Amino acid sequence: MFLADLRAVVRMAILASGNGSNAQRLMEHFKQHPGVCIALVGCDQPTAGVIQRAWDHGVPSYLFNSNQLKNGTVQYELQQQRIDLVVLAGFLRLIPPELVKTYEGRIINIHPSLLPKYGGKGMYGLRVHEAVIAARETQSGITIHYVNERFDEGGQIAQFNCPVLTGDTAATLAGRVHKLEHEHFPLVIEQLVTHLSDGKPLR
Ligand code: GRF
Repeated sequence: MFLADLRAVVRMAILASGNGSNAQRLMEHFKQHPGVCIALVGCDQPTAGVIQRAWDHGVPSYLFNSNQLKNGTVQYELQQQRIDLVVLAGFLRLIPPELVKTYEGRIINIHPSLLPKYGGKGMYGLRVHEAVIAARETQSGITIHYVNERFDEGGQIAQFNCPVLTGDTAATLAGRVHKLEHEHFPLVIEQLVTHLSDGKPLR
């Protein structure tokens, strides 16, 4: 293999704080992908399910605390690992401005609503779906977007809808939205990666 071939591989880090079902879908999807290496699963919660999922897929995990995120230790680790693309999959902390700047256009998040509705600080997990149901929305869905210094406000990449059904609870709606995430997130990331490895900017 020539050095040029090696350079064509996009090195991805996933950051997650919880269960990690989206992280798992990404690890499954990119396992056989010649152009992508999921090099790292970073996590800020020692008991999060995502750590076991990374272990099961043979992906190294990196546990850090909020100070290490804020003081540049996490950024240093990502750069040491030659990470090209950072994918947030249920990561609950704000990305510090310096990291946003360094990885501009190369940090992607998934949010379980149709942003700009039901996003922002504190809008995560079942709270999002409870708010959607309380507002009597008939549609919900997911948003995949670039990350900036504010929660859920970066430029949008893709949205996918699903219905909110009569009698839905936050849990039933969450299940439908999760299904949508598992279906689309890996494919959207794959399209972005194709641009990245072509040497074009992501946006
Ligand atoms: C997903 O709903 C995602 O949209 C949000 O956090 C949740 C993570 O779920 N950002 P999981 O841990 O991947 O199951």
